[in-house]
Amino acid sequence: MINRTLIKEEKVKVRDQHLASYIIRGGNRLSGDVNISGSKNAALGIISAAMLLDGACKIENVPDVADINVMVEICKHLGAKIKRDSEGSLYIDPCSISTWEATHDKVRSIRGSYYLLGALLGRFKKSTIYMPGGCNFGTRPIDQHMKGFEALGAHVNIEYGKIHVEAEKLKGEHVFLDVVSVGATVNIMIAAAKAEGVTVIENAAREPHIVDVANFLNTMGANIRGAGTDVIRVSGVPVLEADCSYSIIPDQIEAGTYMLAAALTRGQITVHGVIPRHMEPLTAKLEEMGALVEVGDESICVSVENGKQLQAASYKTMPYPGFPTDLQPQTTVLLCTANGSSRMTESVWDNRFQYIDDLKTMGADILISGKLAIIEGGHKLTGAHVTARDLRAGAALVLAGLYAEGMTEVDDISKIERGYENFISKMRSLGADITRIEN
Ligand code: EPZ
Repeated sequence: MINRTLIKEEKVKVRDQHLASYIIRGGNRLSGDVNISGSKNAALGIISAAMLLDGACKIENVPDVADINVMVEICKHLGAKIKRDSEGSLYIDPCSISTWEATHDKVRSIRGSYYLLGALLGRFKKSTIYMPGGCNFGTRPIDQHMKGFEALGAHVNIEYGKIHVEAEKLKGEHVFLDVVSVGATVNIMIAAAKAEGVTVIENAAREPHIVDVANFLNTMGANIRGAGTDVIRVSGVPVLEADCSYSIIPDQIEAGTYMLAAALTRGQITVHGVIPRHMEPLTAKLEEMGALVEVGDESICVSVENGKQLQAASYKTMPYPGFPTDLQPQTTVLLCTANGSSRMTESVWDNRFQYIDDLKTMGADILISGKLAIIEGGHKLTGAHVTARDLRAGAALVLAGLYAEGMTEVDDISKIERGYENFISKMRSLGADITRIEN
């Protein structure tokens, strides 16, 4: 039972990180062990889903990253009581929420705030939020989210930069998504959790963090079946107040980023606290390129002998269980160090190759043609002054700096620290020569 009286107001401090940079001296082989934090994208969905509850809950393994702290600030602004303990767990009591309007200016700074549409719609039968922000790599429509809400009986109105959704009542329906969308799948699932009747979401996305949101809601008393497949059945329930704890799954993309760092520095890194099945799209390709991958129950060790040539390969990003688009930039850096000509096809986002201009200033030989990047490996990379344009592109530039000869400065690291917990200390513990400076 969660003791709700202990959940008191607490100012969440979101540090201003816009003027900070990383300085990296390349050439070190990374080696050692790293514990993987909770999944940022699962936490964003779960914290939003908690706003639907009729009781308090404890969420464990929540990463301490800027996107999560912003989401907590937005939810506290709605009136929810949220406290983080020293182990990084969140105690959430949404019962004091007093408004269905998420119009805190930080709503526009992250993508995950759009999950509050479904949660507040489920709680109040209406919700209003600013259009969400997030990484800028092409158009990021939300028409499939709206399609789902309308199917449940809601009216959608977008004006003055805000989305307003309202329904007399929410009634379970059959929704066939035109596009496989993580966000739409999660948002509709949350809104349907307390709708009358059964909602069937077809052509649903299957990412591990969708399963995590479904498992959290089921722990709190919901009735959701099929998450992780392309057909999810949500049988609405009148009340969600199980007063339980829930622990978030490990972050698949953080783990993949460190596994790629091991391969490109020709080192040896073991990532701990992972779910190996979630990493299979990457482990299979690393082995294909010649890396040694040893898989344990909750750990994966990636190693490449010093000086070993990795083989070129072809990648295509796809919805899970395909190769994750969120590892595309980091993998493209690895392909710069492989032997021969590789191909990276980005099939999820329109414009997720912007970081390649920065890689070219470091000596990368990459030709872009629409959704395809052709990477000529084997060229030396040299350090340069580059800028993180989004979360995963920023992480990729850090990886490039680890490999490059000389010094690399990566600017605007606020974008990186949105999604990588204790990034500097984890990288340094692996032997990276990296320093964080406030400009
Ligand atoms: C989530 O974004 C992730 N963000 C992204 O991770 C990730 O890249 C993406 O899923 C794909 O895996 C969070 O979970 C907060 P989508 P989301 O809806 O939900 C189109 C990171 O690095 N689409 O699955 O916005 C869309 O244009 C971030 O952590 C529509 O057409 O992605 C895209 O082409 C970056 N209409 C495709 O679907 C819609 O209504 C997949 O988008 C919604 C999406």
